[in-house]
Amino acid sequence: MFVPGLGRGYLIIREREVIRESKLSLEKQTWGVNVVRECVEQIKDGMLGAGYICDDRTATILYLAEALQKPLLVEGPAGVGKTGIAQAFSRMKAVPLVRLQCYEGLDESKALYEWNYKRQLLHIQAVANRQADTHQVEQEIFSEQYLLRRPLLQAISSPTPTVLLIDEIDKVDFEFEAMLLELLSEFQMTIPEMGTIKASNIPYVFLTSNATRELSEALKRRCLYLYLDYPGIALEEQILRLKVPGISELLAEKVAAVAHRIRQVELKKPPSIAESIDWASALLQLGLDDLDADTTLETLNVFIKHREDMEKLERTIRSRQDLSFQTPPVTGYR
Ligand SMILES: Nc1ncnc2c1ncn2[C@@H]1O[C@H](COP(=O)(O)OP(=O)(O)OP(=O)(O)O)[C@@H](O)[C@H]1O
Ligand SMILES: [Mg+2]
Repeated sequence: MFVPGLGRGYLIIREREVIRESKLSLEKQTWGVNVVRECVEQIKDGMLGAGYICDDRTATILYLAEALQKPLLVEGPAGVGKTGIAQAFSRMKAVPLVRLQCYEGLDESKALYEWNYKRQLLHIQAVANRQADTHQVEQEIFSEQYLLRRPLLQAISSPTPTVLLIDEIDKVDFEFEAMLLELLSEFQMTIPEMGTIKASNIPYVFLTSNATRELSEALKRRCLYLYLDYPGIALEEQILRLKVPGISELLAEKVAAVAHRIRQVELKKPPSIAESIDWASALLQLGLDDLDADTTLETLNVFIKHREDMEKLERTIRSRQDLSFQTPPVTGYR
């Protein structure tokens, strides 16, 4: 580049400056990436200390949810650790867990707040003889004292940080989901008699869903998203070793591998991590340290909860006499 009026010397100096600046910005970037990596590693360690094993993807999304102050929507099949992740996160942060267990028909009075009508009535009766001013009585009965805080209000108004777990959000109806939108984006809620309450400490919010129905786009937009699937063999083995004290390496390895293979058979309800933990604990309780076809057949009912699934697996294991769960090869001509 040639700029009239500026000598060649200027251009060389400028060129060097540009190179130095870009080196500095690259160093800054690398430094930033390293700091994030370190934070993600710290989350993995912290969660492990709290009894939950995270892979890189899970730890990174936890880091982002915290850094961006965004709710985290955790979706996946039953028993893969959706509730557990929020519980472990609250242990890691050493902050209380406020849990809203969702169910069909859950309404605002059980999720947000309700007025303590009985006490309000008693108050009205008590002041009835006093001939008090109605406006004043109204102010008295719609005050903090008569407010019953349900989980969402508890988390929003807590003077200290909390983990708010909205568990199984797919069980509630669309109206309830829509009601949550203000809370999830503004971290505030409005009580008509008292005004708007804004969180002074933004809670760490986890929502879980078994995907029994599609959630609204509006809700999803307000959240980061984590899909937890059945774990790979190595991760499940680690989980078993963490969750089943006294289990041998061999047994953890076998249970993880067999559970993995069973999930590839088409079943009504494949066993989840919760079931493989139960299975491993049961085997340990029976004094077993290894797993073969016979032991699996004897303990099938610990981790399979549907009769059709049980019969199908029994047939498969007996026909193979091993735990590979593959269909026997077809021999001869048809
Ligand atoms: N990554 C993990 N690290 C440690 N334990 C885990 C992990 N994933 C799952 N678990 C364990 O598996 C069991 C089931 O987990 P959890 O109850 O959280 O599943 P869930 O997905 O919420 O199931 P549901 O859909 O039935 O509510 C718990 O004992 C939990 O601690
Ligand atoms: Mg759960």
